[in-house]
Amino acid sequence: MIVEINQKAMQIDGEPTETVLEFLRRHGLKGTKEGCASGDCGACTVMVADRATGLGRQSDPFKTFNACIAPIGQFAGESIVTVEGLAQGDKLHPAQQSMMDCHGSQCGFCTPGFVMSLAALVENGATDFATDDDSVREQVQLGISGNLCRCTGYKPIVEAGQAALAAAHDSWLYVDASVSKHQSEGVTDVESDVESEVESQVKNEAANQGVYLPESLKEMNAFIMQFPTARLIAGGTDLMLEVTQLYRDIDQMISVNKVAELTELTIEMHEGKEICRIGAAVTYQDIELALGQRSPALVDLLHRLGSTQIRNRGTLGGNFGNGSPIADMPPVFMVLDGVLNIGSSSGAKRASSIEDFYLDYRQTSLAADEYIVSVEFPVQALTDFHRFYKNSKRIEDDISSVLGAFRFEGCPDQISKAAIAFGGMAAMPVKLKEVEAKLEGATLDDELMSQAVQLLSMAMQPMTDVRASAAYRLRMAQTMLERALREFRGEHLPQVTEVRHA
Ligand SMILES: Cc1cc2nc3c(=O)[nH]c(=O)nc-3n(C[C@H](O)[C@H](O)[C@H](O)COP(=O)(O)OP(=O)(O)OC[C@H]3O[C@@H](n4cnc5c(N)ncnc54)[C@H](O)[C@@H]3O)c2cc1C
Ligand code: FES
Ligand code: FES
Repeated sequence: MIVEINQKAMQIDGEPTETVLEFLRRHGLKGTKEGCASGDCGACTVMVADRATGLGRQSDPFKTFNACIAPIGQFAGESIVTVEGLAQGDKLHPAQQSMMDCHGSQCGFCTPGFVMSLAALVENGATDFATDDDSVREQVQLGISGNLCRCTGYKPIVEAGQAALAAAHDSWLYVDASVSKHQSEGVTDVESDVESEVESQVKNEAANQGVYLPESLKEMNAFIMQFPTARLIAGGTDLMLEVTQLYRDIDQMISVNKVAELTELTIEMHEGKEICRIGAAVTYQDIELALGQRSPALVDLLHRLGSTQIRNRGTLGGNFGNGSPIADMPPVFMVLDGVLNIGSSSGAKRASSIEDFYLDYRQTSLAADEYIVSVEFPVQALTDFHRFYKNSKRIEDDISSVLGAFRFEGCPDQISKAAIAFGGMAAMPVKLKEVEAKLEGATLDDELMSQAVQLLSMAMQPMTDVRASAAYRLRMAQTMLERALREFRGEHLPQVTEVRHA
């Protein structure tokens, strides 16, 4: 298997779980640093050139990601750019030059990571449509939300980003994103005979490093049957922490992020309703691009989910598939009337409500040979009043202590249909049916709001852990419910960030 690094083809020659970071450093590319090995600090940030996304449009050509939690085998046939690949001769990339000019570096450990995040903004024309300095600044802050610096301070780094974006230039990097999978050893190019293609891929890939890269559900099913103990991997932003933090060996992985059917996001009419179907391997960045116009509330939440690096790789399938009680997406899709489409290597298919999907702490209803194909929901839900509130210790790149999701239909003084769900409160995401029933059809006055908030405390038994105590969680959930109801009634309440800076 071949990967292109800074336009040079390199043989992938390590173990299945060798990370891109380890691979780079083993081959002498030591500009990419290891800080946390868990996707939290950004010192290992590199970029991959994006290829067809299946979404019917060209998204950002360069995607940053955390090299410390990405297995190199997933990048066969891809083109990666590291900090060593930015300068042209002795001419620095605008991101590098502005970091020098603005004094954006002291000890320098974090600097390659920041430079890569800023370079991606420059190369992707992040501020082409920015109307003023504030929106440029916002883009820079979003771009570096996954990078930590412990000694310089962020002001000069943000200024460096603004300066780099202001420096007009032609496209600096040229990366041929079409390095073909067919150049990879062990992958055949037989289009006419699908059966024999699947067979020979399975056979040939088996001889490879144990990261299998199916491109269709049919190929994926064949891999699952042949390697029943292999782990599915999408973005790896959760799974790879088992390797880097828990020191577990994973011998075989089946990568879902090139499976055509799993990387599609479609909106189609079905029985007179517009239905949005999001493939399990669609990344958060692509969900934002596809649905952002329809739901600013979803955009705001996505901007609080991990960092740019995480959102460039993390997927819905991984968020549901890990069964985590603090995953951000399950409560959101619970209130959007979402349904999970589940497939099996046997070819069987079934649909599951999100509530039925969760059985217990980190336990889902997926059988060993099953996987998530897509999440679908009626687009109409995004035209109803909906709010997603996330409470975490840090605004950027932090896991939720409490996540509240709300959707109400009706008029300001009477809710005809209520959907309320929380994440982070218990062993599984929860839908508050009693509170929904209490609100539906009654006059939405202060008395009813107070009763609903009280009822919430009886309906939930929150957990205490390192993120928050049970009492704090309950108070937050009550506050979120009250806020959503007040906003539904038309009250304008200050944003959390406004409170923070007041
Ligand atoms: C720094 C950092 C910040 C994070 N912040 C957040 C946050 O704010 N909110 C949040 O919710 N999460 C957060 N996460 C967790 C993680 O990024 C998300 O849960 C993400 O959606 C996982 O998706 P993935 O594609 O990377 O999953 P992977 O790591 O590839 O997979 C996760 C699990 O799901 C399984 N899986 C993957 N695809 C499928 C499928 N199609 N069918 C069945 N099983 C499947 C895998 O086998 C694995 O067990 C963060 C992680 C990191 C490292
Ligand atoms: S080393 Fe910290 S994010 Fe990769
Ligand atoms: S310059 Fe030292 S950590 Fe950022």
